[in-house]
Amino acid sequence: MQNQRAKFSIPRDVTYLNCAYMSPLMKSVERAGIAGIQRKRNPFTISPDDFFHEAETLRKEFAKLINIQEPRRIVMVPSVSYGIANVAKNVLLANGDKIIIAAEQFPSNYYPWHRLTQETGSTLHVVAAPDSLESRGRKWNERILDAIDARTRIVSLGHVHWADGTRFDLAQIRKRTRDVGALLIIDGTQSVGALPFDVKQIQPDALVCGGYKWLMGPYSIGLAYYGPYFDNGKPVEENWINRRNSENFTQLVNYQEDYQSGSLRYEVGEHSNFILVPMMQEALEQINRWKPVNIQSYCEKISQPAIKKLRAAGFWIEEENQRGHHLFGVRFPKGVSLDVVREKVRKKKISVSFRGDSMRVACHVFNDVKDFERLVNALEIN
Ligand SMILES: Cc1ncc(COP(=O)(O)O)c(C=O)c1O
Repeated sequence: MQNQRAKFSIPRDVTYLNCAYMSPLMKSVERAGIAGIQRKRNPFTISPDDFFHEAETLRKEFAKLINIQEPRRIVMVPSVSYGIANVAKNVLLANGDKIIIAAEQFPSNYYPWHRLTQETGSTLHVVAAPDSLESRGRKWNERILDAIDARTRIVSLGHVHWADGTRFDLAQIRKRTRDVGALLIIDGTQSVGALPFDVKQIQPDALVCGGYKWLMGPYSIGLAYYGPYFDNGKPVEENWINRRNSENFTQLVNYQEDYQSGSLRYEVGEHSNFILVPMMQEALEQINRWKPVNIQSYCEKISQPAIKKLRAAGFWIEEENQRGHHLFGVRFPKGVSLDVVREKVRKKKISVSFRGDSMRVACHVFNDVKDFERLVNALEIN
């Protein structure tokens, strides 16, 4: 894959290594959004059918990305917290049951579980990363597997850790959750779109993805998959369009007991957003053309020379087979202050994030080797 910067509008003097914070908008996605805004100048051009078929097309595009045959298991959500709230509302927990999460997860995948444990008397088991950096990813995965026992009802985590890119071995975790009858809930926000994810292979019970990072969409639209466990559940809200026969606008007050098929009951109200949906559609079509597997290898190729230099200078980065290539944390050698590094990169117009005690570097196809060279140069370690 070649560099794709021409599809974006990032100023030449800016080094944007921060896609985990927010992806830049592709020009084509921006155009789709503007067309969506302009559409409402003349609402008579928007037909009742448009409320349905654009959402259906978007579900199919996301279904392609995560490899599922049933697009109606996919719904639009406004945020990860919303997608997880649908899950939390539909799990039955008793005193003594366990929910397992990884330490320092993103808050939208922490607070819902925290509240649930308070309400039910179940316990939240937070699996800490090992203190030692040696084989950290492998040992962290082992700790998670060890923590899953007969009282475990839910394991909820990302495919990669949002702050340092550590990859969780979802195949092994799924196997173990199956052994004990626990649900596996994945927050795919920091991976899906850039790291291959195959629902058929992993078979999570739910997958929730914010749309504005690696799915390269606008803010306030994400996508979630709900598996068969949730087929008869209760959504967090009751919206008209999620009910059977909502296509018939003349009969909306002929109130229906039944929902639309699949998982559509969980879809957010006003999901037929004529600005956000076409933008997300455009972004996903491009990602499906690029393919996450190629995005990974591109990111690996452009980041490797810098990673070698950083390691040689005493910085710590997770081993290659224990992390994503699109997102990784850089920990500083003794004596290097985070505040000093933050100021150095800011001065050079390099955008990265600082999370916990590491610098989070997140690249995509708009980056190249030179961006990483600039980062290394800014740290003055050559
Ligand atoms: C792993 C992860 N999940 C979720 C989110 C966003 O959550 P929400 O959509 O609830 O704001 C982020 C944002 O940084 C994230 O990194």
